[in-house]
Amino acid sequence: MISFSLQRLSIAFLFVFVTSFALNTGATSIPKTMPVKNVIVAIAMEAEAAPFIQHLQLKLVADFFPSNTPFQAYQGPHGDCTVTVITNGKDTVHETGVDNVGTVPAALATFLALQKLPDTDILINAGTCGGFRRKGAEIGNVFVVTGVAHHDRRIPIPDYVPYGIGKLDTSRHGDFTTAEVLALELEYKLGVCTTGNSLDKTEEDDKHMLANDAAVKDMEAAAIAWSCKLFDTPFLGLKVVTDIVDGEHPTQDEFLANLLAASQSLQVALPRVLDHICHVGVVKEQAMEEL
Ligand code: ADE
Repeated sequence: MISFSLQRLSIAFLFVFVTSFALNTGATSIPKTMPVKNVIVAIAMEAEAAPFIQHLQLKLVADFFPSNTPFQAYQGPHGDCTVTVITNGKDTVHETGVDNVGTVPAALATFLALQKLPDTDILINAGTCGGFRRKGAEIGNVFVVTGVAHHDRRIPIPDYVPYGIGKLDTSRHGDFTTAEVLALELEYKLGVCTTGNSLDKTEEDDKHMLANDAAVKDMEAAAIAWSCKLFDTPFLGLKVVTDIVDGEHPTQDEFLANLLAASQSLQVALPRVLDHICHVGVVKEQAMEEL
């Protein structure tokens, strides 16, 4: 009963949202939703992914990735959707056995997964992040990512500057507006996520995070969005705050202290997001020339 009312509320909201966009732009817009059938969820760390894989009772797909990669894939149905969770696996190259965090494994695993599943309707990157108090972030908050950029790719040669920053608008994909709709519907925060290959930050990173209006920082989102762009696949970033970047505690201490709680919070957020996407689809604003 409650979920039926919520669904009706969702449809009503989507109609109002898209109609008001049409009025604002002066274009004739036809609200449309595109059904979603195939979803990839990219999660870097095992600890972040495990509760969700268990919750959805996904099964390991042993031959999904090439055998010389450390990546793992788990698959199963969720409502009308097929969900594939990919993780970056453990480090064997440096023989540390820790999770392969960072941009290199993230971009590669995403690329291979999208190559294997060309019918993917949307890729969700879920994981933990550091949050900025100055942007309203608190420990445990869920952020839907409106844009990504790199905060540690400094190439001070004019033509290379925008490449280094690597900014991508993820608030919409063509005519699709998933991020804002989801955040409003599910009452999550919205903001830019900037990515770097360090858990901590330098003063120079800080300047770039400020310049790109970062609300959260992570170690994968911009790399994953880049691979999505190569396949023209919609990207949705969903980040749970484990530590406050502009707070008083050392990042690593706060991160480790809150990793379990954040993974559990992700475990609540991800099924909600999936339910929404798999029931409602992604929302399309199709502006047409006025006759
Ligand atoms: N993941 C969780 N917290 C993070 C931080 N502060 N920086 C990068 N990635 C993170």
